[in-house]
Amino acid sequence: MCGIIGYIGDRKACDVIVKGLKRLEYRGYDSAGIVTGDGEKLEIRKGAGRIDELTKKLGFLEMKGNRGVGHTRWATHGVPNDINAHPQTDCTGRIVLAHNGIIENFSELKEELIGKGHTFKSDTDTEVIAHLIEEELKSSENFEEALRKALRRLKGSFALVIIYADEPDRLYVVRKESPLVLGIGNGETFAASDVPAFLEYTNRVVFLDDGEYAILTKDSYVVKRLDTGEVVEKPVHEISWTLDMAKKAGYPHFMLKEIYEQPRAIKDAIHGNREAIRSVAEEIASYDRVIFVAMGTSYHAALAGKYLLQRLARKIPIVEEASEFRYEFGDLVDDRTLIIAITQSGETADTLAAIKLAKSRGAKVLAIVNVVGSMATRIADLTLYTHAGPEIGVAATKTYTTQLTVLTMLAIELAKVLKTADEGYLEKLEGQLAKVPEMVELALKHDEPLRELAESLKDRRDFFYIGRGIGVPTALEGALKLKEISYIHAEGLSAGELKHGPLALLEDGVPVVAINPTGKVFDKMISNIEEARARGARMISLSDREDMAKVSDVFIEMPEVDELLSPIVYVVPLQLLAYHLAVMRGNDPDKPRNLAKSVTVE
Ligand code: AGP
Repeated sequence: MCGIIGYIGDRKACDVIVKGLKRLEYRGYDSAGIVTGDGEKLEIRKGAGRIDELTKKLGFLEMKGNRGVGHTRWATHGVPNDINAHPQTDCTGRIVLAHNGIIENFSELKEELIGKGHTFKSDTDTEVIAHLIEEELKSSENFEEALRKALRRLKGSFALVIIYADEPDRLYVVRKESPLVLGIGNGETFAASDVPAFLEYTNRVVFLDDGEYAILTKDSYVVKRLDTGEVVEKPVHEISWTLDMAKKAGYPHFMLKEIYEQPRAIKDAIHGNREAIRSVAEEIASYDRVIFVAMGTSYHAALAGKYLLQRLARKIPIVEEASEFRYEFGDLVDDRTLIIAITQSGETADTLAAIKLAKSRGAKVLAIVNVVGSMATRIADLTLYTHAGPEIGVAATKTYTTQLTVLTMLAIELAKVLKTADEGYLEKLEGQLAKVPEMVELALKHDEPLRELAESLKDRRDFFYIGRGIGVPTALEGALKLKEISYIHAEGLSAGELKHGPLALLEDGVPVVAINPTGKVFDKMISNIEEARARGARMISLSDREDMAKVSDVFIEMPEVDELLSPIVYVVPLQLLAYHLAVMRGNDPDKPRNLAKSVTVE
């Protein structure tokens, strides 16, 4: 997730911007850049690397002018390098902008603009916006009109801060599905992705809503609607956050913030893959031997991926922990094998070793990765990005649900290519997938009841999570979340396994969390739930079927969703439950003991 800071006032813009960029560093980035202006003269300095290094190397603090824009880039399209760093410009260099988000239809727009004579310098989706405004300017009365026309053609998400050289007294800012707030000072105005970027100068904030843009001068701001151009009255909020609170957007921990970011992240995963998924599906469709490799939460995503490929694409994949694969499977792999490696960081040592080994045996490797330009993306044959944005909490949350989103899209697309599922059903699934962000919003509404539930469970020593079919990975992931941040022993298992051993552990009051969406194995799960209840288990169940309430001590009502999409929605209450238990037990959920965000050693 990129960070943006824009400034217009009487101070040296570069001072404000460099400080602002440092305050946005926590969001994660791979490159940074600044544009400042003195009258109509604009200067851009940018590059890959850390802000401190770039400040020295490029002389950020020597830049002149009282208005400017700074950007920290978390790559989504185009590798992290100097050219792809923002700001990006049009052909003339007079329209300069910084962007956070994803432009879904950038390839078709780019082609169209190249056809009209525009020259592109970078591989970013962002640059398209600058050229599109330039193009619209030719047939518009003024810049504002061109901006609105151009933005109406963009699909996807964007927060933008734009400088137009010919209008030296203003900045244009836009928000659609990516964060952007205004800071209102005395004789100075700010725009940023997050409040910490300007909190040192003002605590008076205007929150833009989706589909709004604003024109900022040093003494004024006017907010308008993108579709109609109508002026919108916006209240100014005085916030009393500390810097630390502001970094977490008011949430007490990054993990909770990231849990709540999931609706947006899932939308980005869908937008960001619509174009890529077809060609990837076509390229891998013919492979019959498919092996998923991954670790931890990514391994659970792989397990869900197995069910998706089985049910939709009629493939029978193997799922292996990368740490096992590298020693057990190497010589079973050949050029008829497809490896699907799932890794948030793209740097997990075992997963990288598995990819390298598979490649050395001639296998084809598709990586599903969050961090653009990471090692996995460099050594794999094909990459699909999850577009979750940086995840700071050690426990994977939004990176898991976006992995599941990409896997669902891939399975649907494979089924279309292979004609292995009914077209009407696939269309229905696609339609529901587009609504999953709303379903996740509904699941998030259980936050307070889950906090109350956690209160009654915080002293328990053991938890069980059960599911069947595609509910099994959710059970495993729920248990992993609980273990890693609350330090409570938890087991995730297939409910069918209960009576083969684990049932012996159940006694009065032991919490058993049952994942039971409507689907193939719904009734089977009811029998397993009864088995556990008969041994005194405290049954906490998640289902869209109200009759589940009768067999549960605690019933968490879930939105109706096809069972193949249920992993994305059902894991959310489990993340919240683990989070509240961790906090109540006095743990820092962002930094669990003994664990690292990325396991780069074997
Ligand atoms: C889970 O919350 C952990 N962060 C961990 O299990 C993680 O999923 C695992 O280490 C794999 O990391 P990767 O996705 O970056 O490869």
